[in-house]
Amino acid sequence: MTCPNVLLADNRDISQHAFNRGVELRRKIAHAVENRGTYVTEHRLDPLFCLPRGNWDGAQNDFSSAYEYMRDGDYDALNRLRFRVQFFSGYDLMWLTPGAESRRSSIAPIPPNHDQWIKTQRAEPDSWVELWLKFTRPIPTALRFSPPVMLGEIGWRVDGVCVNHDTYAYQERINILYESGIIDWLHRLGRPPRILEIGGGYGAVAFALRRIFPSASYMICDLPESLIFSGLYLTLCEQDQVHLVEPDASISADPSRGDVALLPNYMLHLLLDRDLAFDLVINTLSMSEMTELQVHAYAEAIGRLIGRTGLFFEQNQDNTNLGLLDCKDHIRHHLPWSCRLEPQLAVNTEGSTDLWANVEPQLNLIQLHNPVPKLLGSIDSYNIVDYDGFIYGLPQALGPIDLAQVGAEDLKGVIRHDSREKVEAEIRAGNQRWGLRR
Ligand SMILES: C[S@@+](CC[C@H](N)C(=O)[O-])C[C@H]1O[C@@H](n2cnc3c(N)ncnc32)[C@H](O)[C@@H]1O
Repeated sequence: MTCPNVLLADNRDISQHAFNRGVELRRKIAHAVENRGTYVTEHRLDPLFCLPRGNWDGAQNDFSSAYEYMRDGDYDALNRLRFRVQFFSGYDLMWLTPGAESRRSSIAPIPPNHDQWIKTQRAEPDSWVELWLKFTRPIPTALRFSPPVMLGEIGWRVDGVCVNHDTYAYQERINILYESGIIDWLHRLGRPPRILEIGGGYGAVAFALRRIFPSASYMICDLPESLIFSGLYLTLCEQDQVHLVEPDASISADPSRGDVALLPNYMLHLLLDRDLAFDLVINTLSMSEMTELQVHAYAEAIGRLIGRTGLFFEQNQDNTNLGLLDCKDHIRHHLPWSCRLEPQLAVNTEGSTDLWANVEPQLNLIQLHNPVPKLLGSIDSYNIVDYDGFIYGLPQALGPIDLAQVGAEDLKGVIRHDSREKVEAEIRAGNQRWGLRR
């Protein structure tokens, strides 16, 4: 398959309006960083919970210099934000290489001949593209995470999507949410869901989920240094309205606001003080990088925030081999019910995935996504089948086909589209070519 590169030359520049909004937001976030000590003292909070700890305790100079770069940078700096966030996903997007291999500083300058280098050295799509192809085919197109081609997003263009390691990694999270039935469950609520994400990285999961649930109220609770990246990413992409939760301002998980709220981690107590409730709390690749005290504090708070009706979705590695922890050992003290999700639509390289609840019936609400194929009719020795958001044309000569099997749509002669009309048109066109019709 030929997949052309997506280059910087293909990137759309951020609008002046978005830049101005981004500058205003980062000023407030910088204040949240500077004011943290005072806030913690005045509110008698535990610094061991509130200050960056574990893997994020300031030892990561690359993270702090990237934070300063985004805090002080000009238009060009913000316009290439995606090259400055490798510590979140471990992938160096500038060189389309794992960060551990390139060992590049996150604020390294972009060489003037960058597109040329990508075209010559990264012409061939990498293994992430293969995985992306394999695992996006079985899911409805509406659930595809398609990062906007801006801010430095580069990679390979496949089916109109800019694919790179991060596109795959965040698609994997969506695939697991879909396959485990959580996306269906959120739809079944019959109202915009209230979602809280703890440790949101640069905001890709928030972007993807808000695309699926545009009216959801979405809150990201993170170190304020990290909120500068997610806040700017979401603001500059201009899909979402974004605001920072500031001390003493009103705070709400009310979906009618339909926006993204950024909550500095040390203000978590506000959610509890004001009895807010969430349907879904998400934590991926983050709790196992915190300290035991922080994980206990979060798990206890999550238990209160989801009450008897919400769920906690968590995907984390066991980091004990790195001198850190396995957060699951600690979460279970606060959330008595859990089930392990064993996804088929992901390689699950990023740690095991568990769903947690206060009461067992909550877990039973989740029905593994298990769609039933429905025969709509037959034309010209094809069966027309409605299955999992797609319409299939299945040559009867192939005999029974298990559509749940990954790659079934690649079988010779199988046709798949988002409408019956398209499938039937393709069958007729094919038959005309082969002389079956006059
Ligand atoms: C490795 S990144 C993972 C980002 C994203 N969730 C993902 O799946 O790619 C870890 C995230 O945890 C956040 N984090 C670290 N310490 C935290 C704390 N005490 N409270 C909230 N978030 C924290 C980091 O700022 C970062 O956003």
